[in-house]
Amino acid sequence: MLERSTLAGNALRALHDEDYECPFDMRDLNASTLIHTRGRQSLPLDGEWNFCVDLLDTGLRQRWFEMKPSAPEERDTPWDYDPYDGETVPVPSNWQMLREKWYFFEGTGWYTRPLELKPRKGRRYVLRVGAAQYDCKVFVNGTFVGSHVGGSTPFCADLTDDLRAGENWLMLCVNNSRTRDRVPMRNTDWFNYGGIYREMALYDLPRDFLRGLFAHLVDDGSFRHIRVVAEADGIKSATVEISELRITSRIEFHEGRGEVVLDASPVLWSPDNPKLYEVVLRSGEDEIRDRVGFRIISVRGENILLNGDPIWLRGISVHEDDKILGKVTSETDLHRRFAHARELGCNFMRLAHYPHHERAAELADELGLLLWEEIPVYWAVDFTNPRTLEDAHNQLIELIRRDRNRASVILWSVGNENADTNERLDFMTALVETARREDGTRLITAACLINHDEKRIDDRLANSLDVIGINEYYGWYEKNIADLAAIGRNYVPDKPIVISETGADADISGRSPEQGLFSEAYQAEVYRRQIEVLQNIPWVKGMSPWILYDFRTERRKNIFQRGYNLKGLIAADKKMRKKAFFTLAEFYNTMNGKKDPRR
Ligand code: GCU
Repeated sequence: MLERSTLAGNALRALHDEDYECPFDMRDLNASTLIHTRGRQSLPLDGEWNFCVDLLDTGLRQRWFEMKPSAPEERDTPWDYDPYDGETVPVPSNWQMLREKWYFFEGTGWYTRPLELKPRKGRRYVLRVGAAQYDCKVFVNGTFVGSHVGGSTPFCADLTDDLRAGENWLMLCVNNSRTRDRVPMRNTDWFNYGGIYREMALYDLPRDFLRGLFAHLVDDGSFRHIRVVAEADGIKSATVEISELRITSRIEFHEGRGEVVLDASPVLWSPDNPKLYEVVLRSGEDEIRDRVGFRIISVRGENILLNGDPIWLRGISVHEDDKILGKVTSETDLHRRFAHARELGCNFMRLAHYPHHERAAELADELGLLLWEEIPVYWAVDFTNPRTLEDAHNQLIELIRRDRNRASVILWSVGNENADTNERLDFMTALVETARREDGTRLITAACLINHDEKRIDDRLANSLDVIGINEYYGWYEKNIADLAAIGRNYVPDKPIVISETGADADISGRSPEQGLFSEAYQAEVYRRQIEVLQNIPWVKGMSPWILYDFRTERRKNIFQRGYNLKGLIAADKKMRKKAFFTLAEFYNTMNGKKDPRR
């Protein structure tokens, strides 16, 4: 069947080459190629793309990306897919939400679109993809540019050398298969969405350009020194300006990096006063900017301090999940999320279990909410695999470089509910060190497990953390909530603890019983008893119960769940509040305004 095809050589080899993917798994689109884009003009590439699912990776095996556009009647060899014709999908989107036939599809999806361009000499053309779940290989005009792994962080590809005047063709090959070496691995309690699900754009930059900008208060007790760190390619110096503080200063670059410490007296950012300043970095014809809130987050003993004052984190956890949009986030969705958090009396949110859309932290900066952001080192990960560790490091650095100017982000979390083994300890300790090296201005945490047998917190990773996250489900998975109080007595506090998860399922669709597991009454009672115990444990400095909304997950199949985790305080319609919502809201709103509920 293939002998007549000009692809025959390749097509025959392709039938027998099971290492077909190796040449494309370069992972060379990573944190080192990321550029700061805030303040830059861009050519949006959202909208309709040609698309097809490709379960067997025929596209890579037969090298669909090398095909040229051609009318069917002009083709002289058989073909199995025409990247330049056929079905289209909107970008951003998750393919599972577009067609019933793709709901459980796991594998490769091919995206193709034309790009009309007049490239100018001396300019660079950089593609930025907001997120593609999980692995993305980029092709331009039939040439492989590079690949990225990590399903929730942005990446950039320099297309300069492969673009031509006139019509160009972009092809992105995205794969969302759950494999043993990925981060997360194969087993998660959230839906495995696939596709290019955040915005994509092309940036036109000078050949020598400004790559990064990080502005923050120096934690020297004065609140009067701002450090500005900048990265650049081919540039010797730049000017940083914070006009509202009447600051203008030079930054000299050495080996692509420069920094300056400035005297300033900014109004401090806080949830009560989310003050932001425009920071502009200029050099020649290039300019980048960001809106930055200046604040200090730190720990002292068992307290978390914001600008030197103890705070108690009144939080809630949230997934990036929508009944209609899947993992695509809209401005409306974000405003609704924060409005519900406000209604609960929150000053804090845990963006679980992966980096959320960058607009979430930008909006939290504007509205005055504190955030926990995390990478999906979740449950079992191949802690012995160096490429898995490299993937986790890269996702962490990409997250930090994307959100390091967000005052709302106070905690970087390196993982969730991992068994305390030696391999995991080495893997996660290395991630903690990476986070500290990348950003010494924030607190490092992880959601750890309790030793239920001995009723103790003895996760060895906790020794490396600034704040210990604890996931506990007393009253739901663990029966005896009195054990929680015992843990409170057994722990000798030397650093703050945040209850990063607690909760219970409740079905309010009318199918559930009036009482007992999965009833609304049972969930509300679990919240009442959790609050009763936690508010009397002095070293608990916050909580982010699981979870704001019911969310989609393949593993929840009982007659109430039907493919959803029902621990939401609000149903998946993001409208119907459950009784427990009001139980938590009453607790937070009574405490609201006090720095610590026990003061
Ligand atoms: C775990 C896990 C969550 C999960 C939750 C649950 O703690 O971190 O991802 O959804 O428990 O069981 O509902």
